[in-house]
Amino acid sequence: MIEKTLVLIKPDGVKRGLIGEILKRFEQRGLKLVGMKMVWIDKNFAKKHYSAHVKKGFYKNLEEFITSGPVVAMVIEGIHAVEIVRKIVGSTEPKSAEIGTIRADFAHVSYDYADKKGITIKNLIHASGTSEEAAIEINLWFKPEEIYDYKTAHEEHVF
Ligand code: CDP
Ligand code: MG
Repeated sequence: MIEKTLVLIKPDGVKRGLIGEILKRFEQRGLKLVGMKMVWIDKNFAKKHYSAHVKKGFYKNLEEFITSGPVVAMVIEGIHAVEIVRKIVGSTEPKSAEIGTIRADFAHVSYDYADKKGITIKNLIHASGTSEEAAIEINLWFKPEEIYDYKTAHEEHVF
């Protein structure tokens, strides 16, 4: 039941100075940060990370955006972490994301607007969609020795 999931703060989140605000959302729910680094990925790596989307119409703009600056990559652990993190993040389109989620509280762009402008949806975060996706993505972004095993206060008072 205790899972790990991959989260990226995308270049818009980094450049807007929202790293702290975003991290706070995960920490305050008692989730455990077990790996973290800043990485500026190239197009090759982007194709690996977004392998499911490479053939889609929106991929070119997505690739341009995700390689346009550094991202903060992290591995987050917790009970049902994949589902809980996706809930904190909110749905893909900031316009329709629930208020209280990261994508709604720090953005408001719509698919319509992004498509007309020929840009990607800037929604601050990537989070693995399923536990299978999480395992593949963690393996792509992190070496085993970059993921740490330690005890948090939450393991006594929250877990
Ligand atoms: O990130 P999430 O899992 O919520 O969505 P996705 O369907 O896996 O798409 C990956 C990313 O591609 C999104 O987060 C958007 O940044 C972008 N995207 C887009 O720009 N336009 C779309 N129609 C769909 C996705
Ligand atoms: Mg996805």
